[in-house]
Amino acid sequence: MWYLRYDNLGEDLMDRDELIKNLESHIKIEETAVELYKEAMDIVDHFAFRLIFEELMMDSTKHKRVFEAIKKALVETPPSEWDLLLSHKIGKYVVPLELERHIELEEGMITSLKKEIKMLGKGVVRRLLEHILEDEQRHHSTLKQLITKI
Ligand SMILES: [Fe+2]
Ligand SMILES: [Fe+2]
Repeated sequence: MWYLRYDNLGEDLMDRDELIKNLESHIKIEETAVELYKEAMDIVDHFAFRLIFEELMMDSTKHKRVFEAIKKALVETPPSEWDLLLSHKIGKYVVPLELERHIELEEGMITSLKKEIKMLGKGVVRRLLEHILEDEQRHHSTLKQLITKI
């Protein structure tokens, strides 16, 4: 386990309990959204529309997970200084290598998607691939930023 130091979560301007209460309400909203997108998927009978609803549903699940993780970090006790020190030593070697592998994977995907998009006419498949390409580019820059923080 690689621990990150998180004494300051950036909540210093906001009341912690209020932030936690807000997060709980966001979590409920995302849960409702997931249900609604699920229903929409059952009603619409077009593969592209269904995909969009499915993706929105997955995004809502993702948002819910992010809110839950923030809430957990706010309520739990941070790791001890000793754990931090030990894990930091290990993390400094292991994590960049791991991230480099992910970055390469994203780059490979970006290259082949770009090739495919060029060869496809203006239709729904092309639009869907362009949509994934945007995501992959975002993933790529997230990983690039992350690696500079280690
Ligand atoms: Fe959301
Ligand atoms: Fe990706």
